Amino acid sequence: ITYGTFDLFHIGHLRLLQRARALGGENGSLTVVVSSDRFNWVEKHKKCAIPDVQRAEIVGALKCVDKVLFEDSWEQKRQDVIDNKIDIFVMGDDWKGKFDFLKDLCDVVYLPRTPDISSTELKTKLHG
Ligand code: CTP
Repeated sequence: ITYGTFDLFHIGHLRLLQRARALGGENGSLTVVVSSDRFNWVEKHKKCAIPDVQRAEIVGALKCVDKVLFEDSWEQKRQDVIDNKIDIFVMGDDWKGKFDFLKDLCDVVYLPRTPDISSTELKTKLHG
């Protein structure tokens, strides 16, 4: 399982999802939990360019993604892991250490980010 906003979908997102899927092995599956617009705005003070339903549709269309859910609270992670029988919780290493509290339920893995790209950077670039 992995979590993210995936706004202005970019190569860093794709590589993270492909590597997350690969961790699950041949018969594994990848669940991606996409942050809702409400969660982003209320909890992170971030506005998305692309509405959550569309961000989820894009992520769900990828070959490496098997299931998409929405994230609407910080607290849902434990229940998501249990409900979806998750073996590995994966995040980019910008979150290193932040989700170690899930280690009693599953493996927790932080993958290195793809350098030099983020949704925030893309938004800034467009404002040129
Ligand atoms: N990610 C990555 N490499 C990047 C950008 C993101 O591996 N260059 C990963 C993040 O670590 C996270 C997932 O992709 O596990 C979703 O990240 P998200 O926060 O949606 O993307 P960002 O581009 O980092 O967005 P923002 O600039 O709004 O923080």
